[in-house]
Amino acid sequence: MAGSAIGLGNIWRFPYMVGQYGGAAFILVYILFCFLISVPIFLSESIIGRRGKLDIVGSMQRLGGGKMWTAAGLVITAVPIITLSYYSVVGGWSVEYLFKSVALEFNNTAPDEIPTLFGSFISSSTQPIIMHTIFLGAVALIVLGGVKKGIERFTKLTMPVLFVLIVAILVYSISLPGSSKGVEYLLKPDFSRLTPGAVAAALGQSFFSMSLGVGAVLVYSSYIRKEENLLGSAVGTAVSDLLFALLAGFAIMPAVFACGVEPDAGPGLVFQTLPYIFNRMGEGIPWISALIAIVFFITILVAALTSAISMMEASVAFLVDEKGLRRSVATAIVFAFSWVVGILCSLSFGALSGVHIFGSTIFDALDKLVSNYLMSFGALVFSLFVGWKMKKPDVRDELLSGGAAPGNARWERPVYFLIRYVAPVAIVVIFLTNLFL
Ligand code: PFF
Repeated sequence: MAGSAIGLGNIWRFPYMVGQYGGAAFILVYILFCFLISVPIFLSESIIGRRGKLDIVGSMQRLGGGKMWTAAGLVITAVPIITLSYYSVVGGWSVEYLFKSVALEFNNTAPDEIPTLFGSFISSSTQPIIMHTIFLGAVALIVLGGVKKGIERFTKLTMPVLFVLIVAILVYSISLPGSSKGVEYLLKPDFSRLTPGAVAAALGQSFFSMSLGVGAVLVYSSYIRKEENLLGSAVGTAVSDLLFALLAGFAIMPAVFACGVEPDAGPGLVFQTLPYIFNRMGEGIPWISALIAIVFFITILVAALTSAISMMEASVAFLVDEKGLRRSVATAIVFAFSWVVGILCSLSFGALSGVHIFGSTIFDALDKLVSNYLMSFGALVFSLFVGWKMKKPDVRDELLSGGAAPGNARWERPVYFLIRYVAPVAIVVIFLTNLFL
């Protein structure tokens, strides 16, 4: 679960969202949503998954959901495939940056030219697509070949390394001249910047970061044992995910101000800033910069892979469980779809930059569609299902893990209240305010 949650959403997306929506105030709302909305949604998904023991649609049907729930489940099932399409493009950027680090490209570039390096890379019509193909291909091979055990072991090794590296970058970043403005930006809330759009984006980022509303948590939960404490997993995943996001924000933003990149630079923010930091960190001793960059991009890639695997897994589970397809065929279908859509997303930074959907490029439009609309829809459906459709004793049994987590009893009422009222009402209010204001 933590492998699915911690990924590019924390290291790549969180810092640029913070930059786009005004810093500290956004972060405060984000933290609030994490515990008041995302934890209850996480629980809802895991309760459905573990009780239903199937994919999204199958689980809801088994638990008494009729036609309407099936239709909603089908819509939700399409979301991880769409998400994977553009996620894989950013995964590809990470592959490219790993190669660039190995080739010592950042060492040989003047620090102030590093941000422009990114622009020329993503606007190309070939290189980013090759990288997207490599990334997506790796995901498909892992899902297909069942080397997930290996990945799991590898993740346990790389996550602590990533953690240590981010802390090191953070310490270095705030020591750079000019970084104090970035620290202030992260700590001094300016509530005037908290527009309905920013609030909706904070909720969307929270869902994205914890892999919610797309059935990934539901499908993973269908594989876990009865003795596992769901409340513990939800809070544990939320806290570790939040920690990684905050650390990444505090590592990147001060350096953004120090190197003169605009905080609202968008999806390229981290890729424009990180090599600059690495470059400065090893000033005078170039192999140090290269080593830090290589280890960093390897760990990021592993984090991105484990997240992408969960997206593909959620879609493949549906095609296998519901449509009776062979695992290989299902994987091939998901790969083909995400590959083609991913190519369009990648080209929207160059050749197709003129194509706009509701005023956004293809990449931005898909990202907004997923995080602001589709994930909220999924989250709403899951919380309503657990809060209003499932039998209360069943929910209770899952929350108390079949009696194995007696400590959960005192949380039962507040958690049920959050699932039944707070989460769905908040999602609808935020959704409508954003839509009409
Ligand atoms: N939570 C992942 C991240 O932060 O990178 C992204 C993600 C994974 C979203 C799985 C959705 C999903 F189903």
